[in-house]
Amino acid sequence: MSATNFFHEFIRNWKTVGAVVPSSPALAERMMESAEVWKARHILELGPGTGALTEAIQDARPKDSSYLGIEINATFASKLEARFPQMAFAVAGAQEFDFASYLKGREPIDVIVSGLPWTAFPRQLQEAILGNVLPHLAPGGRFATFAYYGFHHLPSGQRFRQLLHQNLPGVETSRIVWANVPPAFIYIGRM
Ligand SMILES: C[S@@+](CC[C@H](N)C(=O)[O-])C[C@H]1O[C@@H](n2cnc3c(N)ncnc32)[C@H](O)[C@@H]1O
Repeated sequence: MSATNFFHEFIRNWKTVGAVVPSSPALAERMMESAEVWKARHILELGPGTGALTEAIQDARPKDSSYLGIEINATFASKLEARFPQMAFAVAGAQEFDFASYLKGREPIDVIVSGLPWTAFPRQLQEAILGNVLPHLAPGGRFATFAYYGFHHLPSGQRFRQLLHQNLPGVETSRIVWANVPPAFIYIGRM
């Protein structure tokens, strides 16, 4: 899916899409390193959008690992299904996805890669998503999410950072990836 299609969805759903262009290959690569996708057994991606990070996950993950992408936008999800036939996608809000049913008989999730626009979300939604997702991250698992540099100073950005520290025992930040629009850095949380 092109950047034009992404921008079109941004115009229609700006509150959930939260960015005007997809993540760059440089940010995608840094996300893969941060999440240690190369050794994952079961990967969850939140908000795959047009697949900028999904493509990097496909290339980096062990061939026998499992993957689920949760995407609220049905237009994005149907394009992802066509483009990545070996990967599974659910059309849902990450705050309401039924993990208990999904995880029956499956390996625990050990890597979460998030492309969600946390800074655009109100407190209740930030809390609801983290509260629904993080209890399903295995001990020792990794959670990687990016934040646009500068926007993290906004009250919603500060609140998200605080919530991460409250919900994950270890949280670090990466160096800034300048080769992204806008420049971004990564929060890397360890369960
Ligand atoms: C900033 S875009 C990122 C897209 C892609 N991951 C990237 O990095 O280029 C955010 C994506 O999150 C999706 N999204 C927003 N709120 C969501 C929610 N509550 N649950 C699942 N997906 C959501 C949007 O539809 C959009 O595809």
